[in-house]
Amino acid sequence: MAVHDPASEARWLIEAVSGMDFTEQVLEADALVSQRAVTQLDELLARRSTGEPIQYVLGAWNFCGLDLFVDRRVLIPRPETETVVAHAIAEVQRLGERVGRADPWTGGVTHYAVADLGTGSGAIALALADALPDAEVWATDANEDALHVARANIAATGSSATRIRVASGVWFAAFPDELRGSFLVVVSNPPYIAHGEELPAAVHDWEPHDALFAGPTGLEAIAALLTEATDWLDAAGTLVLELAPHQALTASQMARTLGYAEVLVRQDLAGRDRTLIARKRA
Ligand SMILES: C[S@@+](CC[C@H](N)C(=O)[O-])C[C@H]1O[C@@H](n2cnc3c(N)ncnc32)[C@H](O)[C@@H]1O
Repeated sequence: MAVHDPASEARWLIEAVSGMDFTEQVLEADALVSQRAVTQLDELLARRSTGEPIQYVLGAWNFCGLDLFVDRRVLIPRPETETVVAHAIAEVQRLGERVGRADPWTGGVTHYAVADLGTGSGAIALALADALPDAEVWATDANEDALHVARANIAATGSSATRIRVASGVWFAAFPDELRGSFLVVVSNPPYIAHGEELPAAVHDWEPHDALFAGPTGLEAIAALLTEATDWLDAAGTLVLELAPHQALTASQMARTLGYAEVLVRQDLAGRDRTLIARKRA
């Protein structure tokens, strides 16, 4: 098994068992460590050498500056999804809402709702709550195992997470009916791989298939979200979806056909089409 960045992985694993960050590891390179830490390190290395992704071995990963707990019940949050979150936050700002950390002394008042559908680890919902001080943030998933991980991450995060509401269900069916027509922005990184599409072994063999595979075409979840969102968004609301670059054209056409007033595609940090922005009002 080839490891892309062995030096960083070694540092992270040592940090996981010793609690020493990289600077401490350098400054205390001669320090003795306990037998327990050595045994633990051996166990983590054995797991890693089977091909298990480093994120699951560590049980933690960083997303938008937040340290999240991750295990095999959830997709590992990706850097390209951070760009999707950035577009969603920009969209909330465009719609006239405040962006920035909440004042810890006055926090707690929410006056609009946003949602992260298919929240997995809770990554997008937590990043939205962190950046949008006046938002009530809904986090949903159809997979109860994933929601356990999301709840653990929400419980472990600071005061912004108290504005997150968790709901279980298939896409918009997770919501109480009174929320129909109320969401300012809905974000989702849905499954968008087609059945039979080839994936790296580290992804295919380890990450949850209901987080990856959408159906025969790969566009099934995107189509469902584009269709249903028209009912659940506010009249000026926006749907922000992650997709694969080759889906951008078809998904944009779908959105226009469904009546979204303005449809944009934005690129990830590698310059590939990654985010679909579908606005009900231009
Ligand atoms: C690609 S993962 C995204 C996880 C997380 N939002 C992220 O970006 O890292 C897709 C998530 O959608 C959930 N999901 C799949 N089908 C769903 C459905 N029909 N309704 C609700 N959630 C679904 C999966 O359980 C999974 O957690």
